Amino acid sequence: MCGIVGFVGRMEAAPILLEGLKRLEYRGYDSAGIAIEQDGKIEIVKTKGRICCLDDMTDGGKKTPGTLGVGHTRWATHGEPSDVNSHPHRSMSGKIAVVHNGIIENYMELREYLRKKGFVFVSDTDTEVVAHLVDYYYKGDLLEAMVKAVNRLEGSYALGVVCADYPDRFAAVRKASPLIVGLSEEGNFIASDVTALISYTKRVVYLEDDEIVLVGREGIQAFNMNKEEIDKPVSEVTWNIDAAEKGGYEHFMLKEIMEQPAAIRETIRPRLKEGQVVLDDIQLTAADLQNFNRIVITACGSAYHAGVVGKYVLEELTRIPVEVDLASEFRYRQPIIDEHTLVVIISQSGETADTLAALKEAKRLGARTLSIVNVVGSAIAKESDDVLYTWAGPEIAVATTKAYSTQLTVLYLFALYAAGLLGTRPAAEISRLVQALEALPDQIEALLPACKPEMQRLAAIFYGCENLFFIGRNLDYAAALEGSLKLKEISYIHSEAYAAGELKHGTISLIDEGRLVIALCCQDRLFDKMRSNIREVKARGAVVMALATAQNKAIAESADQAVLVPETDPLFMASLEVVPLQLFAYYVASANGCDIDKPRNLAKSVTVE
Ligand code: AGP
Repeated sequence: MCGIVGFVGRMEAAPILLEGLKRLEYRGYDSAGIAIEQDGKIEIVKTKGRICCLDDMTDGGKKTPGTLGVGHTRWATHGEPSDVNSHPHRSMSGKIAVVHNGIIENYMELREYLRKKGFVFVSDTDTEVVAHLVDYYYKGDLLEAMVKAVNRLEGSYALGVVCADYPDRFAAVRKASPLIVGLSEEGNFIASDVTALISYTKRVVYLEDDEIVLVGREGIQAFNMNKEEIDKPVSEVTWNIDAAEKGGYEHFMLKEIMEQPAAIRETIRPRLKEGQVVLDDIQLTAADLQNFNRIVITACGSAYHAGVVGKYVLEELTRIPVEVDLASEFRYRQPIIDEHTLVVIISQSGETADTLAALKEAKRLGARTLSIVNVVGSAIAKESDDVLYTWAGPEIAVATTKAYSTQLTVLYLFALYAAGLLGTRPAAEISRLVQALEALPDQIEALLPACKPEMQRLAAIFYGCENLFFIGRNLDYAAALEGSLKLKEISYIHSEAYAAGELKHGTISLIDEGRLVIALCCQDRLFDKMRSNIREVKARGAVVMALATAQNKAIAESADQAVLVPETDPLFMASLEVVPLQLFAYYVASANGCDIDKPRNLAKSVTVE
């Protein structure tokens, strides 16, 4: 996601835009820019790099005088971070400048349409299409041009649009991307969220999808897509400024846990067309897939845990053998791979040294490489034959949550896509699974408020526990790996994820009176086996917190504490059961007074060996 901000009023715009962008930098920080209206022209200054570079270039805004402008801080989705790909984007006539947050899904089609009309593109972004499209429809009436242009757009967008012929107003519109309007005596604003404007005003107007607003010096006018003016209520923000960077949450981690439904929707949306998985962003054909006799997934940490989930799902749907390996092991074990191997690399940052090295080793040995990455233009993305981006937006907390969830989502999409091409699953089953996948964000959205108080209660009981176990079978074991790491890395409490069926082969000797065991029992066909494991550990004194699907609420008879999780296809259960585990780790760490967003000894991206 990106951050956009706009201002028009009695003060110099550039310093206000720069300050607002700094407050939005958590939304994206690979490039930044501003556009200022100056005597019938638009001055644009933009650059790859952090906002401080832009601040230096404009001498804190002094070099770009003017009282109307828009600004942008980018999290690249289309077109790698570069000066030319940064926003604002200017139309060919120079009359229109646009900043955008979101993804224009039909940008290629519009690009071709506009090229045929003589428009010349200079960037690789989807956003540039908007600048030319508004210009194409602009005949002196900015509102008219906005309505016509927006009617052609598909996808998600929050747009700020400056027109050189409008020195006192600029336009904005949103669809599926956040955008608010701020009102003050000194002037009026737009912003991606409250953070960017709260130091100037707490009076805000929340725009709905497909509402266009003309923001003027003395006030705003809001319109629907029929150009009918609409009244918009003014709200009062209750946050204070230091909480606003986190959108009102105490920690980025909690904010990012809550952002998971939106992140999953953003990752799915452009890849489902009429119920079919469409992966236009990769070149793997049916012939390529038939050529593979093995898939190797390699990654580190939580990305590795996503890979373990991916193994089960890919094998179930494609019947191609899948191996998962820690990147730090893979790169040194002389892996037996060749041109018949697909190596899938998973990385949020796209910069993890071990994972990048594993990718290079895979390529050296002739494998085809597909990476699942959250950062556009990152080293791993650039090095891979194919890239499937997770569109989770920037993840600030060291402990990953929304990136992990979108990694699972991409793995599901890829497995369904491959099964469709290979014909290894009936079309009806694929269609049913696609529907289950589409339902996940709503299920998580409902699960979050439902399980949050329960996980706070359980954390208050167990925050002093030590050396606990997460046990599960099959995909529950994969989810247990991630639940255990979340707890360890932010609460500093040692835990171990263990295959439940393996416990009796030695490790069960560690189960003693009061030992907390978190049993994941969400694979219904293995539910009875898990109940046996629960009885095994309870017989040795363990206290058991069990996670189970709502239809297995009988688990409460076996466990000391039961957490119910909504039902979805067993292949996707890891996406649901990880949510209470993330919240449990968060509230245990909070109860222990840990530095949740920046845990000791850890970095967000491990770019060294
Ligand atoms: C997860 O919460 C940790 N921050 C860590 O395990 C992380 O997943 C691992 O370092 C891999 O990072 P990457 O996804 O950026 O490659």
